[in-house]
Amino acid sequence: MDTAIQTAPRKKRALSCIQPTGIPTLGNYLGAMRNWVNMQDDFECAFAVADLHAITVRQDAAQFRRQIYEMFSLLLAIGLDPEKSLLFVQSQVPAHSEMAWLLACHTQFGELSRMTQFKDKSANHADNINLGLFAYPSLMASDILLYQPDYVPVGADQKQHVELTRDIAERFNNIHGKVFTVPEPYIMKSGARVRSLQDPTKKMSKSDENQNAYISLKDDPDAIRRKFKRAVTDSEARVYYGEGKDGVNNLMEIYSSVTGKTMEEIESEFEGRGYGDFKAAVAEAVIDVLRPIQQRFDQLMKDKGYLERMMKQGAERASAVSRRTLDKALKKMGFVLV
Ligand code: TRP
Repeated sequence: MDTAIQTAPRKKRALSCIQPTGIPTLGNYLGAMRNWVNMQDDFECAFAVADLHAITVRQDAAQFRRQIYEMFSLLLAIGLDPEKSLLFVQSQVPAHSEMAWLLACHTQFGELSRMTQFKDKSANHADNINLGLFAYPSLMASDILLYQPDYVPVGADQKQHVELTRDIAERFNNIHGKVFTVPEPYIMKSGARVRSLQDPTKKMSKSDENQNAYISLKDDPDAIRRKFKRAVTDSEARVYYGEGKDGVNNLMEIYSSVTGKTMEEIESEFEGRGYGDFKAAVAEAVIDVLRPIQQRFDQLMKDKGYLERMMKQGAERASAVSRRTLDKALKKMGFVLV
């Protein structure tokens, strides 16, 4: 009998990681993390908490440990599904550190010196310009290349590191034979570009010294209302998207991103109404989107046992995948595997 084997075309693979260096902002969520959730159906996804990257700057041990649990909880709370996607903590998968050394030996001093993030971070931490900070992109390349992804969804600030990863992969493949898929950066099309609420010419950032400039994913409803109330707008008191209205544009961008409404719909909704009404509506819409995430996050943080089981399961799965790539690379280079 003729059995037609239904082979669906293999889903493309995507991988991204996030450092556990504090609670992300609404900008991180709407601009990147929420898209990861949507990507889970169309791609075979892997997401990791990049804790090894975080120690390129000094971390307090107790706070660092808490932030690792928090970031892992948050990934689950926003809707990343461990049954659909590979979810793990980088340091729990030893192949990352091992591969980083192999790739460090295929990364040039000159290439690393040109990385803008290295230049910025060494200016900001002039007392601790360590080798890890410099070699950071080799570790990031190993995070990526171990899983053979086709795409790496990242924000624009990480594009340079993904380009370097491509160069490292191509170089390695040319010297030793094909081991790595050469991945492409995947700059999200649908991600909102959320700006600071206090200076809308700047990106919303959790490291802003003015807490009113950003919404943290952990902010409670009162804090969210207060921050939107204080958000910078203009003196025209008319809600429309236009030149010279950076503050209002940003609020419309956020409102559109959380409600799905178009700019035209928002303009007509607030026709003849002032900024007070508009800001209150934006705040309530944001509160509604964050509420279920915050509830799940709080529950997860109370159950370390569950989190650790999920971490362990992820680490085991990730180790199986990454070990295969690492062994292949070692073998091609001439190492003796026993
Ligand atoms: N460097 C990334 C950042 O700071 C985090 C990261 C580490 C990452 N490894 C990665 C992102 C691999 C994408 C793929 O945002």
